[in-house]
Amino acid sequence: MAKIVFFETQDWEKEYLERKLDGSGHAPVFYLCRLQDAKPEEFADADAISVFIYSQVSREIIAKLPNLKLVATRSTGFDHIDLQACKERGIHVANVPTYGENTVAEHTFALILNLSRNVHKSYLRTLQSNFKIEDLRGFDLKGKTLGVIGAGHIGQHVIKIAKGFGMHVLAYDPYPNQFIADILHFSYATLDEIYAGSDIITLHVPLTGQTEHLIDAAAIARMKDGVIIINTARGGVIDTDALYEGLASGKIKGAGLDVIEDEKLVMEEAQLRKASEEKKGWKTLYEDLAILKMPNVVFTPHNAFNSQEALERILDTTAENLKHCVISGKECINHVKL
Ligand code: NAI
Repeated sequence: MAKIVFFETQDWEKEYLERKLDGSGHAPVFYLCRLQDAKPEEFADADAISVFIYSQVSREIIAKLPNLKLVATRSTGFDHIDLQACKERGIHVANVPTYGENTVAEHTFALILNLSRNVHKSYLRTLQSNFKIEDLRGFDLKGKTLGVIGAGHIGQHVIKIAKGFGMHVLAYDPYPNQFIADILHFSYATLDEIYAGSDIITLHVPLTGQTEHLIDAAAIARMKDGVIIINTARGGVIDTDALYEGLASGKIKGAGLDVIEDEKLVMEEAQLRKASEEKKGWKTLYEDLAILKMPNVVFTPHNAFNSQEALERILDTTAENLKHCVISGKECINHVKL
């Protein structure tokens, strides 16, 4: 019987997964905490672990799990997993490639519409019984150009929605798919063409060595004055320094952020304490906090994936990943290329 250990699972997820894995002859173990906050000696015999993005699957933890055959992340992104360490040990990594293309794309438009129609400012104003509309004038999306960087699952869904609003779309992806471009009526462009031609730029790339700080000061300098930037991908894709300067100078008119570099420092006291001890990350933290207070910034706390339907799809796929890779011993599915 394989030992499967889940981390970061709430009660309803535990019940859902138990139902999904019922009849498999396996009794999974559940932790509410993150992997790094649990005691490895309690699950040293794990054959598979399943984590969400706040667990760091580090080389050190992997070394403490000699039987480990599978890391099943309940996310699309896998930058929280040491892939090299998994590869060296022959451990499979499986993700959930497509649970949330509509979910994250819908959230992308929640951020865009907040900024285009000043919804966040209206909300704060009316809470104070102020119903004046001065300074609340927005702009139409119809006829504007949306630049989509990363036209994969989420990016393509964003394009579909943008077309519904009557927007023009330019997209950049190292692996263009002309068939999809013809069906969805958008054009591929270079990054420079996107920077020069887009009123709104939205990011849908994974965080990799190539995409880290893809949006830096040089990229922002090439964008239209008054551009709006939306990031639901990963915080590290934008250089915080450059974003701060761009917003402060007015070059960037607004930003809709579901993610921000070093967001763990902003959102978790424990991470803040660790950074304080290691004396690092302070400049980013200062800039993060300053950015979040700017009136032309809408921030959601890495919440784009968080719809009931998307969460159930994540658990369904994770259960299938586990069934294939460790329970039935069939070929692994949804495995990340190592
Ligand atoms: P995907 O793998 O379907 O699409 C990513 C696209 O980016 C691919 O088409 C790929 O060719 C392209 N790409 C890779 N390197 C690039 C580069 N240097 N420049 C431009 N394009 C590049 O992934 P999907 O499902 O669309 O998700 C994208 C990202 O969104 C994930 O990697 C994850 O980090 C993030 N995400 C965020 C969520 C949230 O809650 N905020 C939820 C789900 C995903």
